[in-house]
Amino acid sequence: MRSFRPNKIASKMIVAYHRSELPRLNGSIGFVPTMGALHEGHASLIRTSVSRGHQTVVSIYVNPTQFAPNEDFTKYPRTLEADLQTARECGAHVVYVPSSEEIYPRPDISVSLSGSLSERWEASVRPTHFSGVATVVLKLLNIVRADEAFFGQKDLQQCQVIETMIDLLFLNTKMVVCPTVREADGLAMSSRNRYLTDTQREIAPRLHEALVGCELNIKSDMHVERALEIASAKLIEVGFNIDYFSMVELPSMEPRLSVTNLNSKLALITAAALGNTRLLDNVVW
Ligand code: PAJ
Repeated sequence: MRSFRPNKIASKMIVAYHRSELPRLNGSIGFVPTMGALHEGHASLIRTSVSRGHQTVVSIYVNPTQFAPNEDFTKYPRTLEADLQTARECGAHVVYVPSSEEIYPRPDISVSLSGSLSERWEASVRPTHFSGVATVVLKLLNIVRADEAFFGQKDLQQCQVIETMIDLLFLNTKMVVCPTVREADGLAMSSRNRYLTDTQREIAPRLHEALVGCELNIKSDMHVERALEIASAKLIEVGFNIDYFSMVELPSMEPRLSVTNLNSKLALITAAALGNTRLLDNVVW
């Protein structure tokens, strides 16, 4: 049984296992929601919040409703002790580790999404995923009541979904999107990278290479369709199974095949699997 009393593991950091144990914080509050298995990507969000002068709350909760029955919920890495250490080293003030009894106490109310953000790309491969993400993030935002919440650009569509929710449900937390943190060879850090075999790990950086190469080709006036084809072919050649590799306009994430007549930002987005491990990445310009 876990202790239900706030547990000081360092002079300043509090670990709360229930929302009633969250301390009243003075001053501005920053919030970093995570599913744990913390790596440098998560650490950069925590450090950014701390550097902006916030009392920083990190949540660690592997949210069951964002996993489909055939996905990796049960085998998702759970590394609480190491995570608490990372959070402490990054200067977090509070780590909140709720239980599912607390977050989903009875048959639940959930956030439903409509429109292309909830149908395309990740949503077409994982149809119930963003409803689960939006629901848990709404609950957590209501519990923590932060001034700013920090999310990674790595999960670009998740960012657009949450931004839309904050906007259309009139939430009072401002969203801050932080750059993707990468390994030295370019692979975007992810809790799921540990599923890769050694051979797959060697191939994995090609995903980012393909995005960067494609961006350069488009910026050198190659037809977008052609540039996407070349990048996809390279990935297939080295063994990726591609779910999508596309250019989109932000924030709508509608597909675009031309860079002319645009006032908005563009991004190249991809999801591709090596064996059973799906990798996500994007570049925004
Ligand atoms: P998780 O995958 O643990 O990610 C938590 C936060 O860290 C997300 O905002 C994610 O985009 C960010 N992140 C992950 N890898 C990153 C990287 N390489 N560089 C920068 N940021 C990175 O995303 C989730 O959890 C969940 O869906 C959650 C929002 C917590 C809701 O359950």
